[in-house]
Amino acid sequence: MLLYKAVFVTGGGRGIGRGIAEALAEAGAHVGIGDLQLQAAQETARLVEGRGCRALAVALDVTQAASLEAAASAMTTTFGRLDGWVNNAGVLRLDAALDARAEDFDAQMRVNAQAVLLGCQAAARRMIGQGGGAIVNVASNAGKVGYRNMAGYNASKAAVVSLTRSLALEWAEHDINVNAVCPGGVDTPMLTASTAGDAAKASAIIGGGDVLSPDEAAARVIAAVRDDVFFIYTHPELKLYVERKAADPDRWIRGMSRLWGRSQHLLAD
Ligand SMILES: NC(=O)c1ccc[n+]([C@@H]2O[C@H](COP(=O)([O-])OP(=O)(O)OC[C@H]3O[C@@H](n4cnc5c(N)ncnc54)[C@H](O)[C@@H]3O)[C@@H](O)[C@H]2O)c1
Repeated sequence: MLLYKAVFVTGGGRGIGRGIAEALAEAGAHVGIGDLQLQAAQETARLVEGRGCRALAVALDVTQAASLEAAASAMTTTFGRLDGWVNNAGVLRLDAALDARAEDFDAQMRVNAQAVLLGCQAAARRMIGQGGGAIVNVASNAGKVGYRNMAGYNASKAAVVSLTRSLALEWAEHDINVNAVCPGGVDTPMLTASTAGDAAKASAIIGGGDVLSPDEAAARVIAAVRDDVFFIYTHPELKLYVERKAADPDRWIRGMSRLWGRSQHLLAD
């Protein structure tokens, strides 16, 4: 069973987000689903309810802080708690780097990166009050290695990886675990839209790697919620916490023991 009982998924109307919502329900969680497409979110909600769990579907635009705040409030009103939050919504613009347009770059940074910060804030505001929680950001292998014709997307996902490290560090003392997962190719409308569903072409986009099903990608997210893991492992944190110790020794000891006690994991592939 899941440690976390009421979990919200952005972009849960289709693709990986729908897979995450279904897998959360399989694990016994009540699930909130937010999407630009309310009808799609409602369809996912029915799939959750079909597994015997409660569901909440809301219209959501992750680029709007007020929309994310409303979704987080709806979770606590409906379920009495907000234990987990998955920042999954994302967009992809394929273009050769020489043709990439500033407005497409901005759009990807806004939805894929800035909205992750806003989503984390909306979730953390509730979790701090209730003593902790789990946040999982759906980044991408694109943010670690980079793919051709995706310069803006790669940059936005690298930003998610970096944001995740920052927030995990900052909120450890509130018992909020912030993790990121970095899947390669996943067989969803995002990847296949430009290849007319051709799996070989989809694989070529990501450099020839395997293309996972949404369920396989979702399983990695569930592991990050279930296992209560940290993916922080580098030394700059030590420096930061040493600086904090001077200001507040008790908080430093708490934060350090959490970081070093469970710091064995790299960002999940
Ligand atoms: N498909 C892949 O190969 C792949 C690989 C690695 C990571 N990812 C990441 O996984 C996540 C999900 O991708 P997917 O393949 O399922 O995509 P998808 O396009 O199939 O689904 C994305 C969902 O997000 C919703 N959405 C888009 N913009 C939104 C907004 N502003 N507010 C609220 N909802 C919004 C869409 O309506 C849609 O339901 C994304 O962050 C993506 O970058 C995808």
